[in-house]
Amino acid sequence: MNTKKAIVVKGLKKYFKKVKAVDGISFEVKYGELFALLGQNGAGKSTTIRVLTNLAVPTDGYIEVAGYDLLKDPTNVRRNIGLVAEKVILYNDLTAMENIKFFSRLYGIKDSISEERAKEFLKLFDIWTFKDMLISKMSTGMRQKVNLARALVPDPKIIFLDEPTLGLDPVSTKHIRDFIVGLREEGRTIVYTTHVLHDVELMNVDEVAIMSEGKIISKGTLKEIKKHFKKAEIVEMETDETLAKDKIKGKILIQEGGYLKVEVEDIGEFLRDVAKLNIQIRSFKTLEPSLEDVYVELSEGSDNNVEKGMRNTLNEEVK
Ligand SMILES: Nc1ncnc2c1ncn2[C@@H]1O[C@H](COP(=O)(O)OP(=O)(O)OP(=O)(O)O)[C@@H](O)[C@H]1O
Ligand SMILES: [Mg+2]
Repeated sequence: MNTKKAIVVKGLKKYFKKVKAVDGISFEVKYGELFALLGQNGAGKSTTIRVLTNLAVPTDGYIEVAGYDLLKDPTNVRRNIGLVAEKVILYNDLTAMENIKFFSRLYGIKDSISEERAKEFLKLFDIWTFKDMLISKMSTGMRQKVNLARALVPDPKIIFLDEPTLGLDPVSTKHIRDFIVGLREEGRTIVYTTHVLHDVELMNVDEVAIMSEGKIISKGTLKEIKKHFKKAEIVEMETDETLAKDKIKGKILIQEGGYLKVEVEDIGEFLRDVAKLNIQIRSFKTLEPSLEDVYVELSEGSDNNVEKGMRNTLNEEVK
């Protein structure tokens, strides 16, 4: 069986007793795409990755990876994927090179070949000189780089990266980010999780899904998501007197005396309305919504949004 999609997820759920870690998500990733799963701590990103890579059993839902039904044919799925997990998968009592060779053997790769590929990656990540150091002696960043090399040596078609730059310094972060973009250019499919919007922008990912409380609350290309983010602007202003709520066109975020923080759809219209009130304005500034604002806004109505098919609305808006 083969399909054009690298990943198909339908109605995926993963519950831990009372916690609905993943609560009915659906998405597809095309071959050759760099797909970002974005969300705050506890949103359900790692759980999704763990289920898609066969490390956790789903409560419900259909998952297809590399054209294979994950639940029916996990062996073929595993052959086609690589994982850089949140928790580094390496043996502390083995060296970097020993770890890489060990894990490559599980994929049926001969030591001579894995050594050669490991050299390429360890040099690229600037840790070749530490190839014989025990993992237990390494810093977090060094371990993360060995972990990345370990996942890439078997040459997987589809790569899952769960916050691969966690614990890395800014130079290494940039290095790894550029490297991931390079992997996409080689035609590989990448699923990348992060809570940093900036990362997603810098890597110019093909598609983003924003998760909150186990649900996908927004999904689309970066262009679509950004357009959605920019749709509303946040105005922060101080006036001599408290503005009457019914005179303000917009969603009031904070109002304390003369201080007002409001989200407005049309800044021109908002300014014209304020001018009509003939009041003294002490300060005025507009802010772009931060990722946090967007999360808060989206999360507040996440149940409604999903029910109303917010993802579709987002796509339609851009067309
Ligand atoms: N093994 C588990 N047992 C019980 N609850 C779990 C387990 N794993 C995850 N959870 C819960 O599921 C929810 C989602 O966790 P998950 O690790 O998937 O989030 P995340 O988006 O990866 O967050 P982070 O950005 O912090 O890594 C959290 O509420 C978490 O406490
Ligand atoms: Mg996580």
